[in-house]
Amino acid sequence: MFTFSLVCCMACHGGFSLDEQTRCSWYNPEAVLEDLKEGMTFVDVGCGDGFFSLIAARKVGAEGKVYAVDIDASRVEKLQNKAAEQGLTNIEAMVGRAEDAVFCRGCADFVLYSMDLHDFDEPQKVLENARVMLKASGVLVDLDWKKMQMEFGPPERIRFSEARVAEMLELADFRVASTKDAGPYHYLITAKPK
Ligand SMILES: C[S@@+](CC[C@H](N)C(=O)[O-])C[C@H]1O[C@@H](n2cnc3c(N)ncnc32)[C@H](O)[C@@H]1O
Repeated sequence: MFTFSLVCCMACHGGFSLDEQTRCSWYNPEAVLEDLKEGMTFVDVGCGDGFFSLIAARKVGAEGKVYAVDIDASRVEKLQNKAAEQGLTNIEAMVGRAEDAVFCRGCADFVLYSMDLHDFDEPQKVLENARVMLKASGVLVDLDWKKMQMEFGPPERIRFSEARVAEMLELADFRVASTKDAGPYHYLITAKPK
């Protein structure tokens, strides 16, 4: 097994630097990926430096697959370098817009948005892409900032409330399976294809 500190990394969130200890003091990454099992296909949309992709690659193992996409080439390169350093060969990371990213049809077991759904230009389109990629038995997980004033993170005005995400999910042909707190600053929404 691997520990939180081993799997965490640096990432930029709303203009501040998110170090591994800080992220792991907020929420448990293992709980976010609770439904991910060995052999599964995982998609990390807006993957950044690959904080979750790297954990997922270990969880799904050699028989599984991780697809990752980010618009920022430097961040995808960091993910690729880390994967190589850690001997992970089951990650396919690409530079691109989430709005254009459909890695496969009906093949994914798990699609993740980690703290980024509000960042996309067309979040509704991005959710529709998840619906295309997911198997009927698959799960979509949205981890994001609570819509409230904080001294860090993205500005409140651009954050999505849980209710807004639920509306968008419904429009994209998902049903919300659960909505939970993920620590003091984030929520975790799990949805299934209808
Ligand atoms: C707040 S970071 C989150 C990164 C990662 N999910 C994590 O948990 O560390 C948001 C990421 O979304 C990416 N992003 C923003 N707009 C995007 C788009 N339209 N398509 C793909 N990635 C995008 C940014 O480049 C950035 O890496």
